[in-house]
Amino acid sequence: MRLQVAQPTPPASTQRRDALIDSHGRTMTDLRMSVTDRCNFRCVYCMEPDVKYLPKQSLLSLEEYVRLANIAHQLGVKKLRITGGEPTLYPDLDLLLEQVGEIGFDDIALTTNGTLLSDERCKRWKESGLNRITISLDTLDAKKKEAITRSFTPLDVVLRSVDMAKNAGLTPVKVNAVVMKGINDNEILSFAAFAQEFDIDMRFIEFMALDSGRAWSMESVVTAREMKQVIEREYELVREDDGPSSTSMNYRFANSTGRVGFIASVSESFCHGCNRLRILADGTVRPCLFSDDEWSVREVLRSGVSDDVVKQFLRDACFAKSAGHSMGQQDFLPPEKTMSTLGG
Ligand code: 5AD
Ligand code: SF4
Repeated sequence: MRLQVAQPTPPASTQRRDALIDSHGRTMTDLRMSVTDRCNFRCVYCMEPDVKYLPKQSLLSLEEYVRLANIAHQLGVKKLRITGGEPTLYPDLDLLLEQVGEIGFDDIALTTNGTLLSDERCKRWKESGLNRITISLDTLDAKKKEAITRSFTPLDVVLRSVDMAKNAGLTPVKVNAVVMKGINDNEILSFAAFAQEFDIDMRFIEFMALDSGRAWSMESVVTAREMKQVIEREYELVREDDGPSSTSMNYRFANSTGRVGFIASVSESFCHGCNRLRILADGTVRPCLFSDDEWSVREVLRSGVSDDVVKQFLRDACFAKSAGHSMGQQDFLPPEKTMSTLGG
């Protein structure tokens, strides 16, 4: 049965199997679910100080997030990542993790800025079934951290969160650094040393055109290749196996603990192997970060339909996923929405 509601619906796919397959033959097995667009930071590459948040009543309820996660799992999604904004600001996060922890995902991860963690919370999350945490940290310089995040949270708070996550077994802990020319590209080697010292997976991310300040340009991008070259001046890196849909090219250090990975979203797009689907905090289904094509599943959820109807809606939305982005090429136009609402 096709849905009849007064709102745009994705074009009908012929897909009927319990899988999310797009018209380019890619299968979505990785769901990134944003549970809030709020954040206590205003990172320069993400959120402007005067950002307009979505009205509270437009956000989904806990029951709706869990229902969507359940349906996605039935449609073959294996990995769930909870994102934001800053997901630790979502009041029902603990309950959400408890409930999605029971669904049976192979892997559940959380992306956070690491300001609102505690030992107790990390332990509880681990018991609920959270496997891993990714913490955003773009500089090891306290003053620069204030400038990048436009907040006064001390660097130590974030470093302590890395330890808390490790102690709770939320491992491997990943630390994300978005590398921007002239801002933090002089810290690449410090981050490599940090990866060794803290025994974490350091992820160096190319700056993408998803900033709400529209400061992005090709000139501000430091490519993964350039970052790796800097590290290899000092360290011997050994290539690790990345999964087929991995966004990151991963390496371990030949002579120590810790790993580094490079996310070349701009210079070597990995769109051809993309298996990701995003659902935003207000129920917008967004198959591709860089395509403005999106459809709201919120009213569908609220119209009293069965899970089968929601499934067909998700299949249709995924079927329409765009082939990829053209960032760095002449014809490229940045998407209207920026990272703070799309979820990292
Ligand atoms: N470019 C690259 N990565 C970004 N993130 C946010 N904005 C950008 C951007 N413009 C990623 C960061 C952050 C996560 C929440 O989203 O890795 O850690
Ligand atoms: Fe907040 Fe993360 Fe965006 Fe920074 S990158 S403003 S921490 S959502």
